[in-house]
Amino acid sequence: MADALLANVAAAPRPTAAELVNGSDLLVIAHRGLSSRFPENTLPAFTEALPFKPDFIELDYRHTSDGVPIVIHDAKLDRTTNSVSLLGAKEIVIGEKKAAELKPLDAGTWFDAKFAGTYLPTLDESLDAILAGSCCMVERKDGDAKTLVELLHKKQVAARCIVQAFDWDFIADVRKLDPSIVTGLLGKDPLDAEKLAKAREIGSEVVGWRESDLNAASIAAAHAAGFKVWSYTVDKPERARELAAAGLDGLITNKADLARDWLASPR
Ligand code: G3P
Ligand code: CA
Repeated sequence: MADALLANVAAAPRPTAAELVNGSDLLVIAHRGLSSRFPENTLPAFTEALPFKPDFIELDYRHTSDGVPIVIHDAKLDRTTNSVSLLGAKEIVIGEKKAAELKPLDAGTWFDAKFAGTYLPTLDESLDAILAGSCCMVERKDGDAKTLVELLHKKQVAARCIVQAFDWDFIADVRKLDPSIVTGLLGKDPLDAEKLAKAREIGSEVVGWRESDLNAASIAAAHAAGFKVWSYTVDKPERARELAAAGLDGLITNKADLARDWLASPR
C-alpha cells in the first residue's frame, strides 16, 4: 500500500516552488517532516510525509566544523541524539564537531525505541529524500549562503526549494547570489509596519510568522506589502481554519497527515 502511494507521488507532476508560492491554494508544509509521528528532521520523517502530499517539507540545517550542512534543529546535540552517552559530554555544539564524528549518533531513539539506528542526515541526502515527491522548505539555522546556493545549483534543485531563515541578512545574501531562488523571511512578535518595511527592503516572496503573532489585519497588511504569509507551527484544527479564513497562504504543521482534513471540515 505504502509503495503504491509512493509510486503515485513520484508520478505526479512536479510544480516548482515559485509556482506553488504564487498560486492561490493554501499550502501545507510538513514541519521537520511528519514530525508528530516520526523523529523530526530525519529521513523517516521526510519519506513518511510524502504519501500525504504536503506542498513542501520543511527541514532545519546547520554546518559542522568541517562545513558540512547537517539536518538538525537545535544548536546542541542533547535533545534529539544519544550524544551524551555516545560522546560522553553534555551540550556539544554541532558546529564544533566534524561530520564524521556525528555520523554514529542515533537520532531516533529519543523519539521512540523503534527508530533506533536513525541517523542525522546531511542536507544533501535530505533534499534527495524530500524532492522525490515534494518541494523543500530549507530553513538555515547556521552556515553561509554561498555553500547553500552552490549545493542547490550542483544538485539542480534550486527551483524546487524555498530558502527561509530568521537571519534576514542571510536571506539577503542568498538573493544576491541567485535572485531566482524563492525565499522567505521568518519572524515572530507583531508583524507590524516597521517589520514589513524592513522585509520589503530585503525582498522575498514569503513572510513566515509565528502563529500566535498573526491575525487577519497583519495578514492583510503583509499581502498589501506584496508578501505571501506562512505560519508556524499550526497543530490545532480550529486555529488552522481561523488562519485560513484570515487569508493565510501556507500552514506549517507537525501534522501534515491531518491538515488537509482540518481545512476541508466545516467551520
Ligand atoms: O517554519 C518555521 C519554523 O520552523 C521556525 O521555527 O524553531 O521550528 O525552526 P523552528
Ligand atoms: Ca524550522
